[in-house]
Amino acid sequence: MDHQKWWQVKSLFVSLMFLSSLVKGSKSYEDHESLENFLCKQVNKEIVKPRTGVFYNISLPSNYTGIKVRVVRLRAASFFVRGVSFSLFNIPPHVVPQPNRKRMTILYENLGNWSSHYYNVPNYKMLTPVFGFTAYTSSESAFLDDNEKMNFIIEGNPIKIRFSHVGLHAKNDTPICVKFSDDGSVEFKNMTKPYVCEAYSTGHYTLVVPSHKEKSENQRFNKGLVLGFVIGFVGLVVLVLVLVALVKAADRKRIRKFERNSEGGEPFDTFWIGETKLPLASMIRTQPVLENDDFAHY
Ligand SMILES: *[C@@H]1O[C@H](CO)[C@@H](O)[C@H](O)[C@H]1NC(C)=O
Ligand SMILES: *[C@@H]1O[C@H](CO)[C@@H](O)[C@H](O)[C@H]1NC(C)=O
Ligand SMILES: *[C@@H]1O[C@H](CO)[C@@H](O)[C@H](O)[C@H]1NC(C)=O
Ligand SMILES: *[C@@H]1O[C@H](CO)[C@@H](O)[C@H](O)[C@H]1NC(C)=O
Repeated sequence: MDHQKWWQVKSLFVSLMFLSSLVKGSKSYEDHESLENFLCKQVNKEIVKPRTGVFYNISLPSNYTGIKVRVVRLRAASFFVRGVSFSLFNIPPHVVPQPNRKRMTILYENLGNWSSHYYNVPNYKMLTPVFGFTAYTSSESAFLDDNEKMNFIIEGNPIKIRFSHVGLHAKNDTPICVKFSDDGSVEFKNMTKPYVCEAYSTGHYTLVVPSHKEKSENQRFNKGLVLGFVIGFVGLVVLVLVLVALVKAADRKRIRKFERNSEGGEPFDTFWIGETKLPLASMIRTQPVLENDDFAHY
């Protein structure tokens, strides 16, 4: 194989690896951002005159079946004094929403069977759907101002998330709390009580356990795949080189023999390739050497 051909094969191999990594790469985070934008618009569209302190179910179009959304509008002052408890989330008193506004809206999400579509924790398995709570400022004109998120400053006890409400099947491993931040990063924390996580900010939460089995099986599979490919490829190259060398050696021997014979007057077709003199038969034999076209089909 000449240098150029080798380079072509190598770059093909590299681009194959690159393509496979692209297929496995994640798209989740931007997806979730656009889901959130969509949910905010849906809330404002569906509930025009919200009553303060009432939890509303937001119905979603059928392409989001499985996701549950609840919203509530609160007076910031009463939120600070009383906190608010809903579903898994217990927000105690003395949590200060920022920026300082008269009203706020909390949007609760249960991503249900869509959780792993939007979020994943590499090497861990999610035990529960992803639950989220996000706070927005609220005005007369809109249930929530989707461009003004609120942050929480915890002055007293932290927020508690009780996953005991969710059907759980952790067998041997102790679950670990996970928070997905707005920037897409993942934070781990131990549970403070069985199936209870503490939170210091709004965001999206779930429980995970290490995915021993999936991980090792997956890795073994991937390793096996790559190894198999490399071994097969190297083997093929070596085989081709050996075959070429054998054929050349055999031909050289035969040419010498034929040359000796032809000195005796017998006619024989020979070709010159580079500096090697080859008989016609060997030309036909050396033709099926590795062609790039075969690789392009993978
Ligand atoms: C909201 O939906 C839940 C079930 O998903 C139901 O139990 C609850 O009554 C609904 N609330 C309202 C106000 O419709
Ligand atoms: C779902 O449908 C709504 C319109 O009903 C559309 O605005 C939205 O982009 C769709 N989302 C996805 C993920 O298909
Ligand atoms: C979630 O489940 C619903 C049916 O309950 C289905 O229509 C929807 O396609 C599922 N979503 C995903 C991402 O699998
Ligand atoms: C979480 O708990 C494990 C033991 O279950 C312990 O080894 C680890 O240090 C703890 N992590 C934190 C951040 O407390």
